[in-house]
Amino acid sequence: MTLGGRILGAGLAGLMVLGAWAAMAAAGARPETRETQASLTFTPAALYALKCSGCHSPSGAGAPASGIPPFPGFIGPLARRDEGRLYITHVPGVRAANLADAELAAVLNYVMAEWAGTDAEPPEPFTAEEVARLRAVEIENVVAYRRTLVATMAAEGDPVADYPWP
Ligand code: HEC
Repeated sequence: MTLGGRILGAGLAGLMVLGAWAAMAAAGARPETRETQASLTFTPAALYALKCSGCHSPSGAGAPASGIPPFPGFIGPLARRDEGRLYITHVPGVRAANLADAELAAVLNYVMAEWAGTDAEPPEPFTAEEVARLRAVEIENVVAYRRTLVATMAAEGDPVADYPWP
């Protein structure tokens, strides 16, 4: 091999190493990109099954005796009010589910479709943007917030689910 050929070969090998490094860097960057995307990995029904049904039950009936309010007949009136929508995004079980904004919007829309879908006036669907905006609002005491909210609802003739807290 000529000297020129040797230099060219070394240069090519160097380029290959650089190429492999760039590929590894790109591969390393990929999971991070995925995490920051609000893409849905589960269907809304699967999200409900995984994140909510353990407490609220597959039928949405909850367990009123154990302090888990039922959805049928009650979740619609709550979600038809702006204050109710704010409350729903701050319920401890919802916060603890740790879902992306788009996932929470999707699972809430599943809950609404299942248990308020046949209401005379079904609630507006949630969007990821609305969920993000509502989540950013601070509620100091969510129990006190619900107490005030349902007092208004009851005064205006809306049905409200039994709740364990006074
Ligand atoms: C660990 C049990 C648990 C899980 C999991 C859970 N919740 Fe709840 N949820 C409750 C309890 C208990 C309440 C009553 C309020 C409270 O004490 O947090 C409640 C209340 C609610 C309410 C308000 C109902 C009302 O009438 O005030 C909504 C809406 C709700 N949950 C939605 C969800 C959704 C959606 C999920 C899944 C992303 C979920 N919850 C997961 C236990 C749970």
